Amino acid sequence: MIQDKTASPALLEIDRSTPTPLYRQIYARFRTAIEQGVLHPGDRVASARDLASELGVSRGTIETAYNLLMGEGYFSSQGQAGTVVSPSLPSQRPARRERRRSEAPADGEVLADAAPPPPLQLGIPALDAFPRKLWARLTARRARATTAADMFYGNPSGYAPLRAAIAAYLLVSRGVSCKPSQVFVTGGYRASLSLIAHTLLDKGDAVWVEDPGYPPTQEVLRSKGMRAVPVPVDDEGMVVARGVRKTAAARMAIVTPSHQAPLGVSMSLARRLQLLEWASRNKAWIVEDDYDGEYRYAGPPLPALKSLDGHDRVLYAGSFSKVLYPGLALGYVVAPESLSAAFAEAARTGSNGSPQITQAVVADFMRGGYFPRHLKKMRLLYARRRGMLVAALLKAFGDDVRIDLKSGGMHLIARFDKRRERDTELARRAQLAGLNCQPLSTRGTASFLDEGLLMGFTNIGSAAEAKQLATKLRAALVSR
Ligand SMILES: Cc1ncc(COP(=O)(O)O)c(C=O)c1O
Repeated sequence: MIQDKTASPALLEIDRSTPTPLYRQIYARFRTAIEQGVLHPGDRVASARDLASELGVSRGTIETAYNLLMGEGYFSSQGQAGTVVSPSLPSQRPARRERRRSEAPADGEVLADAAPPPPLQLGIPALDAFPRKLWARLTARRARATTAADMFYGNPSGYAPLRAAIAAYLLVSRGVSCKPSQVFVTGGYRASLSLIAHTLLDKGDAVWVEDPGYPPTQEVLRSKGMRAVPVPVDDEGMVVARGVRKTAAARMAIVTPSHQAPLGVSMSLARRLQLLEWASRNKAWIVEDDYDGEYRYAGPPLPALKSLDGHDRVLYAGSFSKVLYPGLALGYVVAPESLSAAFAEAARTGSNGSPQITQAVVADFMRGGYFPRHLKKMRLLYARRRGMLVAALLKAFGDDVRIDLKSGGMHLIARFDKRRERDTELARRAQLAGLNCQPLSTRGTASFLDEGLLMGFTNIGSAAEAKQLATKLRAALVSR
């Protein structure tokens, strides 16, 4: 009934059993909606005719309520354009809850509406370097060409041309050979993991996760009733022997082999083979979370673990959050061919799939040859931005900082060994100053003792900005 904006459903309910006249009830609901900030100055409201038909009352009833609201200054008439909430009313928009500075978002965490990511935010691609004009053109072209068929339900497993484009990309860029029917498009990594868990695991199943690791992995497992078994990570990636010692009969292992999250190490070939051998012997599954494997600054990207998978034990999970942008909310799973039917069924049961038009635009971007070009550009840009942050930190902190640079990724780890404070305290101070550094120690269990600050460098626009951030960080860390 209220056009353009949503309104509280309570607004629709009118009570014919009370002695309060209907026009009065409608008047009161609009007033409340305005006073509570559900309707805002300038919002258009439904025409009296439409609302009367929606509520099953006479048009005169609505007109009486509207006239009262106009008389009291809540509504104003805009002639042909209809009736709006008076633009001159003070806005009751509930003040956006200020994120306390000490609660900066972790990577992958939701930011308040319209808030730009704070400096040093982890896990966000360079938002200033995204080819927005091209994207707008591709989106507009798709929107214009929408047919009736495009408006029907899509395939919950994913839009066919996108599944094909992903399969082609994976073969060329990640050494993963799969058919489009093995690719399942999802709403991102968590949705991918949910789909995998739903299809392959039972409540109570043990799953190896990396320690330290990416917190959402454990959160999703826990929410599905699985048991996450933290397995330590060393310079070669997950220590498979420790996993075997802890829970040999785990049903699944979830790893980030290209660029371990958060330590950044690449899983060695020996470990990859060991993990594959364990999975094949135990009929267990491996989930390869390849969230940013494309970003490697020394040498070409490493082939995916999936490319070594001779026994079809690996499920490959990809995301467009890092290689395009997180607001797209698109990821995908590559399932073994023998499981395609089970995944298709689980996808159908679980949701209506992802928006068709978004998938179509991503497919156009990939098939139009823009994707490899974009990745190449971002690789060069990130290497440069990483270098700028490193130089600025070294300049600001000198010997007081030890920077752990790995061959890839979108963040670095800075260690301040000479400081006595814990990394949680250092991160708190940085966040108070508006810099979103995250403590390394909280990414692991109690037996993970490493400390440091995780910093994203992808959105640092210039050497001057890097210098300013490093100076600010220095001031924040030494403050009491
Ligand atoms: C380790 C890891 N896996 C996966 C993802 C991608 O998650 P999503 O697709 O939900 O953005 C991220 C993003 O930060 C990540 O850090």
